[in-house]
Amino acid sequence: MQQAEIGLIGLGVMGSNLALNIAEKGNRIAVFNRTPARTDEFLGEAGELADRIIGCHTIEEFVAAIRPPRPIIIMIKAGDAVDQQMAALMPFLAKNDIMIDAGNANFRDTVARFEKLAGTDFTFIGMGVSGGEEGARHGPSIMVGGTEESWKRVEPVLTSIAAKFNDEPCVAWLGTDGAGHFVKTIHNGIEYADMQMIAEIYGILRDGLKMSAAEIGEIFGQWNKGRLNSYLIEITEKVLKAIDPETGKPMVDVIVDAAGQKGTGKWSAIEAQNLAVAASGIEAAVSGRVLSSLRAERLAAEKLFGLPTLAETPADKAAFIADLENALLAAKIAAYAQGFAVMSAASTEFNWSLPMPTIARIWRAGCIIRSQFLDEITSAFTKDPNVPNLVVTPAFAAMVKETDGALRRVVAHAALSGLPVPAIASALSYFDTYRRGRGTANLIQAQRDFFGAHGFDRLDGKDVHHGPWAGQF
Ligand code: 6PG
Repeated sequence: MQQAEIGLIGLGVMGSNLALNIAEKGNRIAVFNRTPARTDEFLGEAGELADRIIGCHTIEEFVAAIRPPRPIIIMIKAGDAVDQQMAALMPFLAKNDIMIDAGNANFRDTVARFEKLAGTDFTFIGMGVSGGEEGARHGPSIMVGGTEESWKRVEPVLTSIAAKFNDEPCVAWLGTDGAGHFVKTIHNGIEYADMQMIAEIYGILRDGLKMSAAEIGEIFGQWNKGRLNSYLIEITEKVLKAIDPETGKPMVDVIVDAAGQKGTGKWSAIEAQNLAVAASGIEAAVSGRVLSSLRAERLAAEKLFGLPTLAETPADKAAFIADLENALLAAKIAAYAQGFAVMSAASTEFNWSLPMPTIARIWRAGCIIRSQFLDEITSAFTKDPNVPNLVVTPAFAAMVKETDGALRRVVAHAALSGLPVPAIASALSYFDTYRRGRGTANLIQAQRDFFGAHGFDRLDGKDVHHGPWAGQF
C-alpha cells in the first residue's frame, strides 16, 4: 500500500474516531495501538475506510508506513504514558518528523516536552481536541500550540477534519509551545462551570419546585430554542428524558450524585490563581465536584442537620422559570468572562499572543461548550480584542443589566431554601464586586498594616503609608 500522509497512535475512543475522521476526509493514515489486537479490531470496524488505513503492529512498521517528514498524532492518556510513547517512537523517527500530543495534557508538561526536544531533529505540537467521541469522528474543535512552521505543515489535514461553523473550520494555531493545551484546559474549566451551573438550576427545579426529570427536561428543551442554545443544554434535555431500561425510572434518578474529574478543571482553577485572575465560577465548579464525591459524609450530615425548610414557591411559577433561564445566562457570562480573563493573563505571562476572537470562533462548533453564545463572544472580541473583561463589552454589558434582577432573585430564593448554588451565587458576587468602585479591601489593608506593617496607599496620595495603630492602642 502507498505510504500514509499521517500516523496516529492510540486507538481508544478518541483516537479511533479521529483516525476514521482523518481517513474519511481522503487522507491515508497509519495507526498503531499498544495492544495489537485492538488495531485488528479497529480495522475490522472501519468498513470501507479501511482502504485508507494501514494497521501496524510494531512501532517500526508504523513509522515506515508514513511518508516523511511524518506528522504523528499521539492520542493516549495524558501524563507519563505520553513521555514513554515518545521515547519509544523517537529512535525510529527522522529529521523534521512531528509528534503531536492530542491528549488533555497539562500545558506545563507540554512546555517541558518542547524544552526537552529543543535542539533535537524532531518537532512537537501540543494540540487540544474537544468534542468527545462524536466530535472526534465528525468534526472536533482543535487548538494548536507549536511553531508557526509546524502548524503550516499540519494545517491542511487538521482543517479537513475540524468542525465547521458557517463553513469556517474550528481549528487554529494559537501560539507557541503550551498555548493549545492551555486553551483546551480553560475550555474544560469553562465546561466544568457551565455544567455545574446547569446542575444547580436542575437542583432548584427538582428539589425546590419538585418537578420530575421529564418535566425539567422539557424546560431545558424550551431553553435550547432561546439564548441558552448550546450543546450542553441540548444534551441536558436528552439525559433528563432518558429512561433506565432496568427500572423504568428516569435515568438521572438512578445515577449516583458523585461527579468524577480527570484534572483539567482543577488545572484551570490552579492556573487562574497562579495568574492572579479571579475565576470563582470555575473554582466553585471544581469544589462542587469535590463535595459531590463526599457522598457518605453528605448523607451523614443530612442526618445530623436535616434540610432547611423550602422558601415559598414564587406565586408566578412561569415567571420564576423565566428567572432561572436568565440567571443561568447571567452566571454563564461570568464564567466565560473569567475563562477569557485567565487566557488573557496567560497570554502576557507566557508570551503567547493568544487571539481571543479566534479562540471564541473555534469554540462555536465541535467542542463541548459549543453554542450560539460563543458566536456573540466572537463578535464582542472581534470588535474589541483587548477589552479587559467580556462583561464590559457593549453586548454583554447589556445582557448583564438585563439578567441582573433574575440572577439576584434566583440566588436569594436558593439561599432561603437551602438549595446549593455555589457557582451561580459566585457569579452574582463576582458582578457585585466587579461593579463596585469603592470596595472593602481598605479594611483588609488596614488590618494587614496593623499586624504586619505591610503599608497601604492613601486615596489622597501615591506613597505607601502606615497607620497610627501603635500610638492609639
Ligand atoms: C472535551 C471534553 C473532554 C473530556 C473531559 C472531561 O472537550 O471533549 O472536555 O476533554 O470529556 O476531559 O473531563 P472530566 O472527566 O474531568 O470531567
